[in-house]
Amino acid sequence: MCGIIGYVGNNYAPEILTNSLKKLEYRGYDSTGVALLDTNAKLTIQKSSGTVNNLKKNLEKYDVDSKIGIGHTRWATHGEPNNINAHPHTDCTKKISIVHNGIIENHQEIRNSLEKLGHKFLSQTDSECISHLIENYLDNNDDIEKAIIKTANKIKGANVVLVISNKHPNKIFCFRIGSAGGLIIAHGNDEMLVSSDIPAIIPYASNITYLSSNEIAIISSKKVEYKNIDGISISKKTTTLELNEESISKGEFKHFMLKEIHDQPQSMTDAIGSRVSFIDNKIKFEKFPFTDDEIKQFSKIILIGMGTSLHACMVAKSWFESITKIPTEVDNSSEFRYRDLILNENHLIISISQSGETADTIAAMEKFRPLNPKQITLSNSPKAQTSQIADYTIDIRAGIEIGVASTKTFMCSLTTLYLLSLFMAEKRNSLTKAKMNAKLSELAKLPGIISNMLDNQKQYKIIANKYYNYSNFLYLGRGLNYPLAMEGALKLKEISYIHAEGYPAGEMKHGPIALIDQNMPVVILIPKDKMLDKMLINLNEVKARKGTIIAIATENENYINNLAKDIIFIPKTSDDLTPIIMSIPMQFISYYIALNKECNIDMPRNLAKSVTVE
Ligand code: G6P
Repeated sequence: MCGIIGYVGNNYAPEILTNSLKKLEYRGYDSTGVALLDTNAKLTIQKSSGTVNNLKKNLEKYDVDSKIGIGHTRWATHGEPNNINAHPHTDCTKKISIVHNGIIENHQEIRNSLEKLGHKFLSQTDSECISHLIENYLDNNDDIEKAIIKTANKIKGANVVLVISNKHPNKIFCFRIGSAGGLIIAHGNDEMLVSSDIPAIIPYASNITYLSSNEIAIISSKKVEYKNIDGISISKKTTTLELNEESISKGEFKHFMLKEIHDQPQSMTDAIGSRVSFIDNKIKFEKFPFTDDEIKQFSKIILIGMGTSLHACMVAKSWFESITKIPTEVDNSSEFRYRDLILNENHLIISISQSGETADTIAAMEKFRPLNPKQITLSNSPKAQTSQIADYTIDIRAGIEIGVASTKTFMCSLTTLYLLSLFMAEKRNSLTKAKMNAKLSELAKLPGIISNMLDNQKQYKIIANKYYNYSNFLYLGRGLNYPLAMEGALKLKEISYIHAEGYPAGEMKHGPIALIDQNMPVVILIPKDKMLDKMLINLNEVKARKGTIIAIATENENYINNLAKDIIFIPKTSDDLTPIIMSIPMQFISYYIALNKECNIDMPRNLAKSVTVE
């Protein structure tokens, strides 16, 4: 959470910093700010509550001639979102400025001791103790590097920090401890940027270096020095970025979310890509680290994730059980990390994190590493922290997703998990060749099916017009579509702020049924699959209680005709793949309802795309 940016070069820093901050807003957007050093090394700080546009307007009033600065877009942890708590923060002398992402676990203790020494804190943030600590550690020689190293060693928790000082008007100092989101250094022509994530640096530089945990970088316009947390020089590899501006633009679409929904046929094709040879129906995962024997020995799979990624885990559980025939459990990473589990090398943990930065998922993966389970992680950012822990990373290949509510990363996670279940099934001989062929040929049709589904948005607009004023929704599904009911409810909550619950339909009689009346739209996921008869019973129970039903049913079938007034039709596919196409109505219903409610669809209140704190 939080986006941080730094620039040093020959160009006008305020413009570069604010343009870059706009591209990091998906990480947090309750307040924002920049610290600039002008050509006389004078430090200027500008902050605004709300979005970067407010900051831009403020900055226009001051024409600071600056070629170096740092910036921040905040997701509040300590202290409410306002101008004072917005970053950057400074020391008492107002000569040092910092931006910070993470949580300083011992901030209260540090603050107390610094206050006793006479330091005056202005904000309620944990972050401010960094600038005061640096000030405190500065010796008579003003050795800021030493002071930063001492600070990095003093603060506890996962933290990423950028520092500028008027005594070093050509340098940005950075350090990273643990996994509070990434830090990427981009090398341009006589200019350097440092950022939490790639979108902010794409227009400026294509050679990048990832700063790892316990590392420090000292950046000037022409060079970067890397050190470890003890101040010893280290060398680091630079890689080339293969992305362009188009991949982070909305193009013709009103919102990133809408664009990303439309990206799905292509993203899914990319996720399948070269992994499947449809000539001989074989699946290959490049450099898969486990032998066939090891795959045969797997006695348990545990799928972990958070939010939408957790829902992908829940769908995949059924695939790993029914296709790969391995006992499988699912857990929310934030619960899993605190369990006392007996694990061994025949257990496989599969974690899913589109960002690769989710603090709970990282902690869960770390915690059980000493017990030696095998670990695979699925990520849309395959150089992120989760990949440093897992034995193997599978790139879900969704392409950059900017909308805070996950859409294409969900679909690509599902597609990749399905392939993984088939791949392991082949190694374990748990699927006949004929069944494998049939499953892959159904999968090959999906991008086309999804593409056709995108052409039919009128039905969602009708539903949205009718229901956007309701305050509560219930989503019901069974089997593979139960997680989709959860996902549909989550999407609605996230972007339209309507209260929604997703339930397994069988659970309805154990409580939720008490809520049903004409004011409670019930979205019933009722495709023609092996659960149809059971779902019909649930649907009739809702109807008998005058519930308002929105049914999502299979097209060209007549089982639903007289049972619901509002019906959204989806194409027929195999039972296994239905949850993948079911995600389209879940996305569009919430999108169009949020649009009617004029919500901030790409940046819903209080949410962030990368949840890098616990
Ligand atoms: C946040 C995002 C969700 C995402 C979840 C898990 O809540 O807003 O869209 O599903 O984090 O993120 P991850 O990166 O671990 O998949």
